[in-house]
Amino acid sequence: MHNSDNESFQKGLTRRGFMKGAIAAGAAVTLSDKLAMATKMISGKAPTIEAVRGVGVDPGLVRMSLNENPLGPSPRAVEAIADRMFGVNRYGTELGDLMQALSEFDEVELPKRDPNRSFFRSPPGPFILSSGSSQILGLLSLAYLSREGGEVVEAEFGYGQLSRAGSFYKEIFGVDVNVIKATMTKGYKHDLDVMADLITEKTSLAVITNPNNPTGTLLQTEEMDQFITKIPSSVVVVIDEAYLHFAEQDPIPSAIPLALKYDNVIVVRTFSKAYAMAALRLGYGVASQKIQTELRKYSTGGPNVLASVAGAAAVRDLDHLQKSREVVWQFKHRLYEEFDKMGLEYIPSQGTFIMVNINRSSRAVVTEMRKRKVSVSSRRQDEFKNWIRISAGTDYETEVFLKTLKDVLSKAS
Ligand SMILES: Cc1ncc(COP(=O)(O)O)c(C=O)c1O
Repeated sequence: MHNSDNESFQKGLTRRGFMKGAIAAGAAVTLSDKLAMATKMISGKAPTIEAVRGVGVDPGLVRMSLNENPLGPSPRAVEAIADRMFGVNRYGTELGDLMQALSEFDEVELPKRDPNRSFFRSPPGPFILSSGSSQILGLLSLAYLSREGGEVVEAEFGYGQLSRAGSFYKEIFGVDVNVIKATMTKGYKHDLDVMADLITEKTSLAVITNPNNPTGTLLQTEEMDQFITKIPSSVVVVIDEAYLHFAEQDPIPSAIPLALKYDNVIVVRTFSKAYAMAALRLGYGVASQKIQTELRKYSTGGPNVLASVAGAAAVRDLDHLQKSREVVWQFKHRLYEEFDKMGLEYIPSQGTFIMVNINRSSRAVVTEMRKRKVSVSSRRQDEFKNWIRISAGTDYETEVFLKTLKDVLSKAS
């Protein structure tokens, strides 16, 4: 803390001093205390929707539908925003620090830069920063599907943003794009042999979401490496690692070495999940200069400064990241345990969510649950008519979800 901050902090008179005090106090409650409190509340008492106090939502509401992080962001990230927000009249020069933090976390070397030169004049490195990872996926679709047409190969139950973009360009602009859906394995995993076989001369993009949304299945880096060596280098392989940090594996597996090894591979990451900053819109990619040059042709700007400083602080808060992972793991294991008892089929997940087959129309059940203020997803109706996807909640939210689900199922036919 700077000296001037220290003084005002002690006096508690300035806005910044007030904010910092409030954040420090909030931080102290949001982390381990909150989990301990929730556990204490659950034991011996039936959980109630009225008592739910979800982070970032109105009291009395359980939102487990949007794959958000229930723990909330690192207090260090919030503090970084508070520190910077009174200076937003100045353009941001902090992107370099975010890249530095990422280079340490992802063990990626940055090109040497002259500290006397502006960050914007520094040699380009492997990172591309964006306003949410959707922006990078959007740039990929513009660069590799919208102009001369092309072909996208993606798993049948994949995330689908690039496939939807391909269909959109074809339908609205008449661009010659093929959207090819690859069947998955019986366990809802990417079948990379099937994907490789479907690739043609026209294929411009092959998309792997790892872990996959919504099936939560995970591929190992070596499997993807073999796939890449099998297919033409003209195909850009997109590896979307939005949920990677939640893999129950240490060290966290990463495809970044593949993006550094191959010119035609891009790894895409987001701050919306592991770092709980969905509304701040921050994402990044790791890719060769060849891919970056293509994306830059369509770029309309990168992340804002508050997202950048928060991102750098969040990446350095390894303790909070680990807490996030553990909250999600706890949620999933609790659900597995209960679904086993209920005899429901589910897909074990390495993401922040679980797909479960409730053996009846999921739309009706989701609507009924929403009336009881518990929100889960039934969006994949074409493929998963009887399934719901539940995103991670805290202990208490998870107990309320289970109680509500059981109640609704007992009344539904
Ligand atoms: C697999 C996957 N990729 C990308 C995104 C987009 O994330 P964002 O634009 O918030 O970074 C999501 C969001 O849910 C996702 O599930």
